[in-house]
Amino acid sequence: MSLIFLAINGGLSAVGAVICYQLILTYIPIFIARKMYGNDQCKVSNAPVPEPMGVICAAVYLIVMFMFIPFPFLEWKGQSEFPYEKLLALLSGLISISTAILLGFADDMLDLKWRHKLLFPTLSSLPLLMVYYVSGNSTTVIVPTIVRHLVQPIVLLPVTINISFIYYIFMGMVIVFCTNAINILAGINGLESGQSLVISASVCLFNFVQIFRFSAENSTGFWHHTISLYFLLPFTACTAILFYFNKYPSRVFVGDTFCYWSGMTLAVVSILGHFSKTLMLFFVPQIINFLYSIPQLFHLVPCPRHRLPKYDPKTDTVSMSIAEFKKTDLKRLGALFIAVCKSIGMLHVKEVEKDGEIYLQINNLTIINLVLKFAGPLHEKTLNDVLMSIQILCSLLAFFIRFYLASLFYDV
Ligand code: UD1
Ligand code: MG
Repeated sequence: MSLIFLAINGGLSAVGAVICYQLILTYIPIFIARKMYGNDQCKVSNAPVPEPMGVICAAVYLIVMFMFIPFPFLEWKGQSEFPYEKLLALLSGLISISTAILLGFADDMLDLKWRHKLLFPTLSSLPLLMVYYVSGNSTTVIVPTIVRHLVQPIVLLPVTINISFIYYIFMGMVIVFCTNAINILAGINGLESGQSLVISASVCLFNFVQIFRFSAENSTGFWHHTISLYFLLPFTACTAILFYFNKYPSRVFVGDTFCYWSGMTLAVVSILGHFSKTLMLFFVPQIINFLYSIPQLFHLVPCPRHRLPKYDPKTDTVSMSIAEFKKTDLKRLGALFIAVCKSIGMLHVKEVEKDGEIYLQINNLTIINLVLKFAGPLHEKTLNDVLMSIQILCSLLAFFIRFYLASLFYDV
């Protein structure tokens, strides 16, 4: 029966995709007329591009989800025990996703401060975590076999350990991280929508594989991966259309609305599907980008408003963008970071003298600029293709780790 509901969900997703396509075409001139656009900073014309078009797709996504909600519960009509927990799981996931869309739209309109971007997703994760709690969902983690064997002479570790509230803190952190991770790996045509599309398609595939493995329909594992697909199929369909318009040369920009919606949807499905640790494998490029960005995000070194690559109109290529600051303004931790990264070749650093003062020039700390540091100037489309290839490679690696390496380290 669940497979029929998945087919209905897939059908609604396809309809959602067609509506997204039509609505984007309709709204492009309306956005421009309302002055809702951004300027493409990697083009000669600096042309206005409608932004945030993600809000249109997010609205279609929510409508598809609202229309789908009754279907999985049709089979329980008239039966004595209605599965309230499952309905709650769907509704709480939608609350978190809706609040992320609201936060993103507010960011697009008002350019929010970092503290809001961190606090709001933390609070909006509460309904989801509460439902997780009251539904008696597991907070146990499996101890790797290798760790058990290593410590066996000293202490006998159990196969699983209940880490209780630490698990909730971890899930809260997954939500806050995912909500922001896509937005800080952004700035070239097709990157935000492209990376989301690769991750969501990979997670869909992961869910299908798991459903195939848990072939018993009444097992909890089957439900966890089915509910994950209920959220993800419409998301993937809407995102594919958005990517079509956002890829080089962008006809629309997705905006922060899309970035937060995308991150939150992926985090929500991983929590409802009980695979938040596996999700992190699909987010490896975003994790590296976040770690590399830390000095700028926490202002250990200055962070300009935009860190996207620098466009050269003569060659129609983009190259590393540079942050410049007085050497004396550098904080101790920032200096340490620069020294370490320079010594391992992960940072472009140049000292220049101006008016008797020493200035440092470093590349802005994103993996987009890091790729350009190694590859040299690239055409914007080529750069996005390289970043997409890295994302796809990481997905393949995630499958390898999850299905091959994990079986070596865990009794799964
Ligand atoms: C985040 C990044 C910022 C990056 C920006 C690009 C951090 C801390 N912030 O800021 O470094 O420059 O995203 O999205 O990492 N744009 C293009 N081409 C594109 C996409 C965007 O030129 O393909 C420009 C447009 O001017 C667009 C603007 O970026 O209007 C959108 O920036 P916005 O999403 O508001 O920036 P943030 O999310 O605050
Ligand atoms: Mg943004």
